[in-house]
Amino acid sequence: MNEQSIANKEAWSYRAYEFWTSNLGVSNKVAKDMIKHPETYLRRHMEFLGDVKEKKIANLLGSCGKKAVPLAILGADVTIVDISEENKKYALEVAKEAGVNLTYILSDFLELNIDEIHNSFDIAYLEGGILHYFLDLNEFSKKTYALLKAGGKLVLNDFHPIRKIFKSRDVFDDNDLEITGNYFEDELKPEGVAYERFFTDDEQKEFPKCLLRYWTMGEIISSFAAAGFIVEKLVEGPRFDSHKNIPGEFTLVASKGNKVEA
Ligand SMILES: C[S@@+](CC[C@H](N)C(=O)[O-])C[C@H]1O[C@@H](n2cnc3c(N)ncnc32)[C@H](O)[C@@H]1O
Repeated sequence: MNEQSIANKEAWSYRAYEFWTSNLGVSNKVAKDMIKHPETYLRRHMEFLGDVKEKKIANLLGSCGKKAVPLAILGADVTIVDISEENKKYALEVAKEAGVNLTYILSDFLELNIDEIHNSFDIAYLEGGILHYFLDLNEFSKKTYALLKAGGKLVLNDFHPIRKIFKSRDVFDDNDLEITGNYFEDELKPEGVAYERFFTDDEQKEFPKCLLRYWTMGEIISSFAAAGFIVEKLVEGPRFDSHKNIPGEFTLVASKGNKVEA
């Protein structure tokens, strides 16, 4: 594993199970709620995913299963690839309580052995904080492309790169959006894991840090295009706080051509 993946694995292995249990809820309660209204968990991504019944979906960096289990409830055959044992534990517990199968591959995505699963997924679905975990975006997009069947679809939702220019990169909590950042910055930086802010100041000091590389929109689109993806649409959405006049997220929908890979 490279330096970045080692740091991110350590960060995502620290108190993650505890966080999901207190934030999302204990597995049997969450599962019950997911069964009641699975679409709610998938938000407007449903519109991009389409009918998922009997579709083979790779939910890359799928974390605690909060998207994968609802997809499985809707009839999809879902595989998560994620680096965190704690996330795996929570996701499999929820899947079991929901009465669905979930394949969970515990691996650094960059080290994932795809010999037996290349050209095999209808959809690669990635959402909510993905690309900054990779220093080599071309390697990441190529590997994602290789997993898809000919004609398969990519649905990638992530935080909007515009947040690079703000002092705080958080797009959920109102802040004064002070501009001190550099959109073109290309360094690998230590930062708190996504759920660290839910703990007390003293507890936060104990958290291992992630190592993140933030990308520009141009770099992102160019990388997926270079891998061979045909871009269908790029949809930008507002921030999640009150600054609705500024983009907070984007969704890239793209496909793998119908040419069959060797
Ligand atoms: C912010 S989450 C994205 C999923 C979901 N939106 C969430 O909020 O939990 C990022 C996930 O990426 C995983 N991750 C980070 N680096 C990885 C790597 N190199 N290979 C596989 N998974 C990785 C972490 O364990 C974490 O579950």
